[in-house]
Amino acid sequence: MENFSRKLIDWYRENGRDLPWRRTKDPYLIWISEIILQQTRVAQGYDYYQRFVTRFPDVYALAAADEDEVMRYWQGLGYYSRARNLHAAARSMAEAGGFPVTYAGVRALKGVGEYTAAAICSFAYDMPYAVVDGNVYRVLSRWLGIDTPIDSAEGKKLFVRVADELLDRDRPDLYNQAIMDFGALQCTPVAPDCLFCPLNDSCVARLKGIAGSLPVKQHK
Ligand code: ADE
Repeated sequence: MENFSRKLIDWYRENGRDLPWRRTKDPYLIWISEIILQQTRVAQGYDYYQRFVTRFPDVYALAAADEDEVMRYWQGLGYYSRARNLHAAARSMAEAGGFPVTYAGVRALKGVGEYTAAAICSFAYDMPYAVVDGNVYRVLSRWLGIDTPIDSAEGKKLFVRVADELLDRDRPDLYNQAIMDFGALQCTPVAPDCLFCPLNDSCVARLKGIAGSLPVKQHK
């Protein structure tokens, strides 16, 4: 399985996107980027991220701001509970003395679920938590030929276990960024670029010709 990770990371070094939140290890900045990107595409989130972190460069600046001002910086992004949760979480962090340094502490922040906690802890702290998002479901279901529905309880458990087994424990940050970009740019939902894919010789879905029908969802 080291081969899977090595090929993904090699691909990422050539093809990955150079994004501002990937050039930092600051958990606060990574947290802001991940909350923005929960329901927003990179192309739209990019400018919001830049404006937001310029005005609120750390957890104390965000905690000290008025809610109205925070909401103004979010105007147009939608899902406004994200901004309210960010602000509330910043206030509790400022009171507690800074950004949490454990997975449990990060996961307990308002608005941070399992995916976001894994992203923050791997990117900022190099902790061995695999991210599992839509991109990861797609890449893993295809490469391994898994047709268990991703929206079933069984599927969720299975993919979390497989993602954890494949995670590169020496480089969880690079590996997680790589698999997300690989899903977004190479192993795309429609018309994946199998011909020029570095994993095509070991991809079960490609060998069976079923890439287009994976992953399976039981409720469309
Ligand atoms: N979507 C969610 N997190 C992301 C990240 N770190 N880079 C690019 N797209 C993302």
